[in-house]
Amino acid sequence: MNLDFSQIVPYIPFILEGIGATLKFVIVSILAGFILGTILAIFKITSFWPLKAIADVYTSIFRGTPLILQLMIIYLAIPQLTGYDISAFLSAVLAFGLNSAAYVSEIIRAGIMAVDKGQTEAAKALGVPYRSMMLNIILPQAFKNILPALMNEFITLTKESALVSTIGYLDLMRRAQIAGADLYRNFEPLFFAGVIYWVMVTILTLAGRYVERRMRQSD
Ligand code: ARG
Repeated sequence: MNLDFSQIVPYIPFILEGIGATLKFVIVSILAGFILGTILAIFKITSFWPLKAIADVYTSIFRGTPLILQLMIIYLAIPQLTGYDISAFLSAVLAFGLNSAAYVSEIIRAGIMAVDKGQTEAAKALGVPYRSMMLNIILPQAFKNILPALMNEFITLTKESALVSTIGYLDLMRRAQIAGADLYRNFEPLFFAGVIYWVMVTILTLAGRYVERRMRQSD
């Protein structure tokens, strides 16, 4: 069997730097997707149909086309229209944030609908304004129910981040590929990158469980 992990040793710092590069845009994308997704979820449950229509069309587009295509359109096609180049980092944040918002909006919408109707009725009967009812009564309860689904989304995003290797962003995946090309051996660097992705996802999973446990205690 042709395996020699000692050969990737000189490349380890180079590959490890990819963790920061990956995390940097994944974290920004998760936050952007979460904020936009929450807004879209609220649009979806209003009785004002134009807002609902906008949010539905949005989800249909961003969930209905491949993420890699969205990334390519932002990175390659939009500069053709505007004449301005857009950095790989910004393209990645936009594509992942916009894509994730479509999924997050559905997760949050489901969470809001699962909160007992009596909560809304009670808030209305007490004269709580809509904004405050949403922020202080409905969303906190919804959040607890949807935490596992949200964690799933964050894990998906972390792994799908490897797609940015296709636009030359020096993320973990791209660095492993470069090391593989330099060494004429792909197994070791790809395996190494795989272990790092797995560790990142495991940490995310454990953090999610921790938050879940804390929220259950506060019940
Ligand atoms: N590979 C899938 C696609 O191209 C990933 C979608 C991203 N998923 C997500 N939950 N944000 O559509």
